[in-house]
Amino acid sequence: MKIKSLKLKNYRNYDLLKLDFDDAANIFYGDNAQGKTNILEAVYLSGTTKSHRGTKDRDLIQFGNEESHIEAVVEKKGIEYQLDMHLKKNSPKGIAVNKIPLRKASELFGIINFVFFSPEDLNIIKDGPSERRRFIDMELSQLDRVYLSDLYNYNRIVNQRNHLLKDMGNSGKIADTLDIWDLQLVQYGNKIIERRKEFIKQVNEIISFIHKKLTGSREDIQVIYEPSNGSLALEQALIKNRDRDLRIKSTSVGPHRDDICLLAGDLDIRRFGSQGQQRTAALSLKLSEIELVKQAINDTPVLLLDDVLSELDKHRQNYLLDSINDIQTLITCTGVEDFVNHRFSINKVFHVQGGQVMDEN
Ligand SMILES: Nc1ncnc2c1ncn2[C@@H]1O[C@H](COP(=O)(O)OP(=O)(O)O)[C@@H](O)[C@H]1O
Ligand SMILES: [Mg+2]
Repeated sequence: MKIKSLKLKNYRNYDLLKLDFDDAANIFYGDNAQGKTNILEAVYLSGTTKSHRGTKDRDLIQFGNEESHIEAVVEKKGIEYQLDMHLKKNSPKGIAVNKIPLRKASELFGIINFVFFSPEDLNIIKDGPSERRRFIDMELSQLDRVYLSDLYNYNRIVNQRNHLLKDMGNSGKIADTLDIWDLQLVQYGNKIIERRKEFIKQVNEIISFIHKKLTGSREDIQVIYEPSNGSLALEQALIKNRDRDLRIKSTSVGPHRDDICLLAGDLDIRRFGSQGQQRTAALSLKLSEIELVKQAINDTPVLLLDDVLSELDKHRQNYLLDSINDIQTLITCTGVEDFVNHRFSINKVFHVQGGQVMDEN
């Protein structure tokens, strides 16, 4: 799949922007804070309805304006789709596909898949569990409509359960009410855990090959799902932790607290890996994600590479650029010099400056 064009109106630091993309590599270069990431963000949003940075709609709208428009034309298996998104300050966004309004944002699902790769992804092993959960959730939410809806329901239940723990404190009635919430929490929670485990299993089928290439066969890698309920069933773990939950007024077990562990041989890279090892493992994980999406959709996703090349040494840069040569890619960087001496061919170059984009082709 490809993205053909993008139009922005009053989005972040863009008054008006119209871009036509090449089917292969597109480079956006410019100094910091000029609007490079904003372009990738708008592209990502057009297909997923969400900012990769988790920004709220109202903050995406250009300062001083009430509304913002994004129009993207994408092509999937030879068919073109026009995706229109209309962001409003005080009401939910409007979305249309080929000018037909969607009732729910989730109906956009499956038209286009993006893989977003930012420098923060290279810290995913070093950072806390929430970043690693976000990695899985962002990907599975794009690949699996059922997961997306289960996750939505699960998060809603956890929020309501937490409210209940805060509001009712230790009053007598709380136990019965908690029983009812726990039943639903277990129902959705188990579905999420199962799906994540399946995802990790698929990652494991791919990652070890990639990681060997990146480390010159020095390291063997394995990804393990770590549920917060340990070896207990989720239901039992909730019962066991109930007193604690009442005390801390929050839900302490469930997939919203799970983690993934990355092992190099027997070494837990999260805790004991060197910074280099952690970053290489993160790169392997991200490259596995690209492969996995390809397999899952039987097509190529569009890759959004935000400022990552300058974070990698030559060997890793080359490996990354080599492995994406069949994928449409939007790359941001501060200077085009990153690409000199590389066999990678740049098809289109754009210079980004102060919310203006110059097509240098
Ligand atoms: N809602 C907004 N309205 C107007 N400008 C914004 C808004 N949000 C961010 N910006 C501006 O966008 C710029 C940052 O853009 P970004 O794409 O992150 O830069 P970079 O080129 O470094 O990737 C900053 O100058 C910031 O002030
Ligand atoms: Mg940026």
